[in-house]
Formats: sequence, C-alpha cells, structure tokens
Amino acid sequence: MLDVQKIRADFPILHQSVNGKPLVYLDNGATSQKPRAVINSLVHYYERDNSNVHRGLHALSMRATDAYEGARARLAKFINAADSAEIIFTRGTTESINIVARSWGHAHLKPGDVVLTTEIEHHSNLIPWQQAARVSGATLKYVPVLGADAEGGLDLAALDQLLTPKVKVFAFTHISNTLGTINPIAEFCRRARAVGAITVIDAAQSIGHAPFDVQALGADFVSFSGHKMCGPTGIGVLYGRRALLDKLAPDETGGGMVSNVTYEDARWKPAPERFEAGTPNIADAIALGVACDYLDAIGRDQIAAHDAALSRYAMEQLSTLPGIRIIGPRVGAERSGLASFSFADVHAHDIVTFADEDGVALRGGHHCNQPLMRKLGLTGTTRASFYLYNTEGEIDVLVASLHRTLKFFGTT
Ligand code: ALA
Repeated sequence: MLDVQKIRADFPILHQSVNGKPLVYLDNGATSQKPRAVINSLVHYYERDNSNVHRGLHALSMRATDAYEGARARLAKFINAADSAEIIFTRGTTESINIVARSWGHAHLKPGDVVLTTEIEHHSNLIPWQQAARVSGATLKYVPVLGADAEGGLDLAALDQLLTPKVKVFAFTHISNTLGTINPIAEFCRRARAVGAITVIDAAQSIGHAPFDVQALGADFVSFSGHKMCGPTGIGVLYGRRALLDKLAPDETGGGMVSNVTYEDARWKPAPERFEAGTPNIADAIALGVACDYLDAIGRDQIAAHDAALSRYAMEQLSTLPGIRIIGPRVGAERSGLASFSFADVHAHDIVTFADEDGVALRGGHHCNQPLMRKLGLTGTTRASFYLYNTEGEIDVLVASLHRTLKFFGTT
C-alpha cells in the first residue's frame, strides 16, 4: 500500500486552491505533476552544471556530460534495456514514433507490405503510420476494437487473420489513453515475431505506472514521454534494439551525430548519438533520470496496484450516476487508472468547466483519438485519470461535482 499522504508532500503543486477549493488533479493522462526532487534537479543543473555536452573539456562540460550520460544509463535500467546505447533521448512519444515511422519505414516498407496498428491508437501512433504507408505504398490495417463502448478490447481473433507474413511492423499502445484498456503486449510481441514483423510499443500511458521490461517482452522499439512519469515536458525516449538501431539511418542530421564530415559527405556515429543531432535537452534528460529514481523508490508494482484500486473505486462510484455511459472495460474488468465517460445531454466541455469550479482538473474531448470517437458515435468523453498521489476522497469530490453538473442541466 502506498503512503499517499507522504507522497503528496513531495508534490508542491498539489497544495493549492483552485476557484477556492482544494485542487483535485485528475488529468494525469495528459501530464503528471512533478515531485520536488525533479524540480530541484532542474534548478541544480542550471545553477551549477549548465554547459554543453560531448564537446568541451572544461569542468562544467564534463559534469554535464556525465550527468546526461548517467541519465541515459538510468533510463536503460528503468526499462531493463541491455545497453544504454539503446536509449535515444527525444522530445517525447510523438517524436519517438515519428523517427521509427520515417527512418525505419523509409528503409523497409514497400508496396505490398502491411503496416498493422489498432483502432484505439492515439493520433501520435496513427498519423505517422498513415504517412509511412502513403510514402512507401504499403497498406495500413487496423486491429478492430470490440463492443459498442469498446468494452471488449482488441479483437484477438481478427489479429489471427491480420497478422500475416506481409505485416512488416505492428505498432500498438500498451494502455489506451482514452479507454483505459491494457493490451496484452507480451502476446502481441510474441505473435508479431512469429511472422517476422517488428514491434513498436507506445508506452506513454504505462511506463510510469507499472514495471516494464523490454528484454522480457522482446520489444523492438518502445516510445514514451517524461512528463507523464513525473519528469519534465520536452523530454522522452525512443528505445530501439541495438541490432536495429545500428542499421538505421538518422532522421535528422547536424552536429554531434557525425564521426567525419567533408564538403561532399558525412559519416554517422553509432547509436545513440546518430539519432541526437544538435544540442540535446540536457537538463530535462537529467531530471528524467531523477524521476526514474523517484518512481522506483516507491515501486512501480505498488503504483500499478494503487492505480487499479482507484480505478475500481471510481468505476463503482461513477456507475451509480444516472445516464452515464462508461467507455472501455466494464466495471470489474481490468483497466488502467483512468475512467472515460459521457452523458447524452451534457457536453464533456461543460462537465470539465463545472468540475474546474469545484477545483477538479479533468480532460474533455476526443483525447487525440478522433477515429475511435467516430466509431463509438461520440464527439468526445470526459476523462478522469489517476496517479500515485490521488485518493478515494478525491474521487468522491469528482462524483459530487458530477451530481451538481447533472442537476444544473436538469438531467437528474
Ligand atoms: N496524450 C495526452 C492525453 O491523453 C495528451 O491527454
């Protein structure tokens, strides 16, 4: 069991009022809050060590380089990568997936090939594959989601039909940011490998919430963002299996990623430098390493259990509200720490606005998941998403706020 009150003391931002009410932050799917250790790391870096990495021989540059490369090693440990060269720092999940779709896609996809993804992907794991398929002439296919409320998860029987040797890449999310569905990613990796397809896992919603082991999964590429796992914005990771990275051409070129340059040509350094052109986001990478320390000191297995308990409680409480339509796994079924719901007569934006008056931060809209919304006949949902510092009491505040909103709109 997490000591939530002790954890809350680590997050300065949580201790404030919004519209005269104590802040109840339930928008963790969009971004998480940052513990003091992460904030202090940024201040420390800019007050003591700020310098450019890999280029200088002076003390500050060496300190910055050690801390930056130390963060890379920390991230490797966080996901059990075999080699820290497999960790490429990027701006976040979106950039990570774009690198794979462009670099790997350009080198490997051709007409007749199939790019397989799923109907529940966030736009960042969908549009890059649309583009890669368009440029290469490959065909883009989707694993369908089951049920009028997408309650059935992905259709594994359809996956049997779809996962043929023509599939060159299978890109899928670990946890849906919109539904809370947890995909069987170990099985997906195994089945993709059996037909010779590479796997690209979007772990944005899961990496800071549960243990993640790239070697046990046999994953080829994994992307995630720092800001959803207690780290800063503007920093994320692309994990790539070393054998694949070594054969991959860079997506961006410039300083820092070359071993030799003439007026005619350039030679690339090996990974990870090959994929990090220009001055990297040094301070935020270091702070992301601190976020890893913070989360692992608490225990990601403990965080996963806490998320699941909050999710269970939220589903029980929300399902008592008149007219609610809950999207994703049914009450009692496994789901991540989020609840996504709608009411026929009240727009999600009104719910979010009313909740804000009560100090509750939610997200309303299509959650960068427009095709799924259309499939479900929705324009959007309201989403409450939980993390290690949330409590059942906060879910009670949410439910009371929803009652107030429904009463105002005359639906109860
Ligand atoms: N992808 C983020 C979310 O789901 C922004 O809210």
